[in-house]
Amino acid sequence: MKINSNFLNLKDSYLFATVGRKTTAYKTAHPEKKVIRLSIGDVTRPLAPVVIDAMHRAVDDMSRKETFKGYGPDQYCYGYNVLIDSIKDSYSRKGVSLDSAEVFISDGAKSDLGNILDLFAIDNTVLVPDPVYPVYVDTNVMAGRKILYADANLANGFLPMPDFSVDADIVYLCSPNNPTGAAYSKEQLKEWVRYACEKDAVLLYDAAYEYFITDPALARSVYQIEGAKECAIEFCSYSKTAGFTGVRCGYTIVPKELVREGTSLNTLWARRQSTKFNGVSYITQMGAAAVFTAEGEKQISENLGYYRENAKIIADCLDELGIFYTGGKNSPYIWMKCPNGMDSWEFFDYLLENANVVGTPGSGFGKNGEGFFRLTAFGTKEDTKEACSRIRALLQK
Ligand code: MLT
Repeated sequence: MKINSNFLNLKDSYLFATVGRKTTAYKTAHPEKKVIRLSIGDVTRPLAPVVIDAMHRAVDDMSRKETFKGYGPDQYCYGYNVLIDSIKDSYSRKGVSLDSAEVFISDGAKSDLGNILDLFAIDNTVLVPDPVYPVYVDTNVMAGRKILYADANLANGFLPMPDFSVDADIVYLCSPNNPTGAAYSKEQLKEWVRYACEKDAVLLYDAAYEYFITDPALARSVYQIEGAKECAIEFCSYSKTAGFTGVRCGYTIVPKELVREGTSLNTLWARRQSTKFNGVSYITQMGAAAVFTAEGEKQISENLGYYRENAKIIADCLDELGIFYTGGKNSPYIWMKCPNGMDSWEFFDYLLENANVVGTPGSGFGKNGEGFFRLTAFGTKEDTKEACSRIRALLQK
């Protein structure tokens, strides 16, 4: 038996696992300190009441033989119509029309971003922005694919544009970006769609944070761009939109127009999912179906507003300190320059030890993240304010 030796090419541990381990070690050594985590983007607001009501009703359905549910419907890879219809409605409000068979329900964007690679040959070349969500790189390293990087930096506002002299087959885009918070305008995305069409490449578009966008010039979905259905797969999640990090539900759009080598990727994905996945629980799907109702959208926007205020509290603190940052406006992440020329892990340790605040080192997202640091707006208001007053007191010195 031989192991998949590509795993040996990975870093020792996943970025957020390393951050978690270091935090736990510090807390164990200093049990008297109150450590505030503004590191992993994990939500703190409770689920919206409409979601809770729908889940309670679904639990009741499971208690009666007349309404009990086993496996989900296999017509749409175990996604219930009521949920798929609500997702289609949410897209139509963005001017995008979808067929039910193009909407695949998942247990979150992360799983599908990794699983989608089953559809692609190993000798495809992958293009990944740097810095970016580490899952794109790690999953391709596990598979042994060649990875090229598109530099995201101060010069391009952390939004790399296509270089037509580079030949890539699979291109990842994340907008609003994790970790930098930068988001592509519709005009900029047109260029990426043009690139993918010209190169016969596939765009893997991670839109997990799209509900944070308020600026109408920015794209909420790649399918707002003409031609994108022929070249893009979009990944979305209820995690950050509706506080589902502990519930687990997302959706992936694979358009029927997306055909490569004469084969429909929609058909391949349906085949893959029906073979390797048994769907998301009925209770979860019913909760998710309440999110994009009129009342659901109203309630989730209150929570999104809460996180936006947190982002402003952090941004104001950095403004006061004269520290450069991006993000925080159409995104829950604030991407700040480490003060006094510290590198990312140096600043991580400095902040943990002197302010008992945990963030995420920028270098964990790629080489261009070195010297930067990510703070999340997903904490509680009290913790965010307290963290900022500690940061202010420490860095004013
Ligand atoms: C993050 O902090 O980058 C995210 O929470 C990670 C994730 O969504 O998996």
